[in-house]
Amino acid sequence: MTVNGGGDVERLRDMISAGWRTVLIHHGVMNGLFDALSNEPQEASAVAAKLELDADTVLRVLRALASIELVRQTALTSFAIAPMGALLQTANPANQRGHAVHWGGRTLDSIRTIDHTLRTGEPGRGNGNFAELNADSVNGQAFNRAMADQSRPVARALAKAHDFSNYACVMDVGGGYGGSITEVLLANPGLAGAIYDLPALDAGAATYLSAAGVADRVRYIGGSFFESVSPAADCILLKFILHDWSDPECTTIMGNCRAALQPGNKLLLIERIMPELVTPAHEDVVRADMVMMPINGRERTLAEFTGMASAADFRMGEVTLLADGCSVMVLEAV
Ligand SMILES: C[S@@+](CC[C@H](N)C(=O)[O-])C[C@H]1O[C@@H](n2cnc3c(N)ncnc32)[C@H](O)[C@@H]1O
Repeated sequence: MTVNGGGDVERLRDMISAGWRTVLIHHGVMNGLFDALSNEPQEASAVAAKLELDADTVLRVLRALASIELVRQTALTSFAIAPMGALLQTANPANQRGHAVHWGGRTLDSIRTIDHTLRTGEPGRGNGNFAELNADSVNGQAFNRAMADQSRPVARALAKAHDFSNYACVMDVGGGYGGSITEVLLANPGLAGAIYDLPALDAGAATYLSAAGVADRVRYIGGSFFESVSPAADCILLKFILHDWSDPECTTIMGNCRAALQPGNKLLLIERIMPELVTPAHEDVVRADMVMMPINGRERTLAEFTGMASAADFRMGEVTLLADGCSVMVLEAV
């Protein structure tokens, strides 16, 4: 028997136990631990009293958070926020709280259903489930906020990579709170924007767009892309929509987008593209594929997107890598 000296055992053990970090961060956010800390060291017992939590458990959890560099332990029982932990504080405009709430809660619960899908091929949570998500105010808002946070840098890269100067109005179909449309409009001052999404997101989008300073340039149109898509724009953005749905559902969405556009108009399809051969460099797209599996969605290859585009009367054009593993595929309505 050979002894593995390459660190594989350590790496494997780290992967096996990786979920503890997700769960710890989730509960830290949900219970206000990060918001309660500041740069000034505080006693764990004072933090516990402020949050009405158990003092001994707060001490142990803060110690655990110190081990992953989200807080700093400054003395035996006192703690301050660390730079990475500050990204989990509500007051930080770049905060990642939406991701933390969503990943440690709904997403982990969902991923557990892969066992069911492995054995039956059936999605563990059913299709989409956006109505159920939006009916839950904590998880619904966390999800929509996380989506907008993820979209901002991707759309900033899109605004640099794609020329929007020939469009009168860009409509983000399934645009959520408006992270993408915000960045596209900020980079293109003469452009009008619209969001076409479920009516339930209207108020949240209004708050988000107003904080982003573009509310007066975005029209929110409530509706379902399974019924129709409003013909309000000469360019449609479709980001992280197709990956939520099965092939027949995508055919309907793409067909309704095509019906809303004129020949020559563009549809900017933004997704993580599944490579033909996966390497460790592709963890983001395969992780996303596992997240989509329970809701009957999937990540797709460029060949699959090209086939879907052509079946809906679009021609696949340029494909450009943007940010966070996302690419834009420029489709032209034929
Ligand atoms: C994965 S999120 C993507 C959000 C946004 N495009 C982004 O990338 O940040 C999917 C979006 O589709 C919207 N959606 C779900 N079902 C819809 C439907 N039937 N009609 C319109 N929008 C829908 C959701 O409300 C949500 O905003």
